[in-house]
Amino acid sequence: MSRFEHHIFVCTNLRPEDNPKGCCSRKGSEEVLSRFKAGLASRGLKGKVRANSSGCLDACATGVSVVVYPEAVWYAHVKTEDVDEIIDEHLVHGRPVERLRLPDRTSS
Ligand code: FES
Repeated sequence: MSRFEHHIFVCTNLRPEDNPKGCCSRKGSEEVLSRFKAGLASRGLKGKVRANSSGCLDACATGVSVVVYPEAVWYAHVKTEDVDEIIDEHLVHGRPVERLRLPDRTSS
């Protein structure tokens, strides 16, 4: 049995500025992760939901990339101002934020 009900992984991979693949870190992923951590703490969710940094999630072009388990819901182009909505809608009420979802990765 898992200790946490949800895990949020935020890609914080950093590549050199001239790398054509780009990276989530240069799109503000550290701030996104900090916002998740603060938002979970302020809602008393710290023991239920865990936000972690991750390496590259192989969705670099649509970063900042975030994935929530166990549902395996992927979010694309996540900005700090989106974080409260993901926490409140998805993690509290169980309704993934459709406008931020990455299309099914298995179909591409
Ligand atoms: S650098 Fe973030 S998904 Fe690849």
